[in-house]
Amino acid sequence: MCQNLTLDSPDKNNQWAEFAKIGAERWGVPLLWSKEKLRFAKRMKLTKPALPSSDKRWKIVDARMRRLQLPGARLIEVLHTLQESFGYLDEDALRFVAAALHIPPSRVYGVSTFYNLFSLKPQGAHTCVVCLGTACYVKGGDNVLAAIEGCARIRRGETTPDEQLSLLTARCIGCCAIAPAAVYDGIVAGHQTPEQAVEKIEGILGHGA
Ligand code: FES
Repeated sequence: MCQNLTLDSPDKNNQWAEFAKIGAERWGVPLLWSKEKLRFAKRMKLTKPALPSSDKRWKIVDARMRRLQLPGARLIEVLHTLQESFGYLDEDALRFVAAALHIPPSRVYGVSTFYNLFSLKPQGAHTCVVCLGTACYVKGGDNVLAAIEGCARIRRGETTPDEQLSLLTARCIGCCAIAPAAVYDGIVAGHQTPEQAVEKIEGILGHGA
């Protein structure tokens, strides 16, 4: 169970450090850190939790966090590195980031669920993001999505059983001038029609044109 504790200045007998250590072990992210506490914790080498596993990808994430050096202020960049390394963000990863950056897990979870580009579930080999922002919606984005759902036989937010395609939606991807827009494997395609989208998806899934 996670619990947030706020502690005053460290005392001379190191009780605060001892308490922090126990809290970190017991609750994962127990402290709301002030700059003073953070400096003290750095001296006490309490700022860095152990990596969740010996998986080499954690070293990439860890190196990124060390380079950024600003606890909490670069959360999005750290989450990007995590997602690039693992393909998605699972609960253990989010807890590790919260502990390493000394911010509440609720904030890490809130940021990772706010942005469409972060995924909390494993993704397929290919991704398709259909924009359903206002400009795209009024120009038929919902029809594009329906056509893709019919072709791939999955609903938005799902991955095909063979893990080849994940279908996602977004609220404006910043390309309103070419609405309706979709993003296939990171490449934006504009002025999409349902037919074009189906052709693209069939090509990705390897059972069409
Ligand atoms: S609404 Fe779709 S790109 Fe802006």
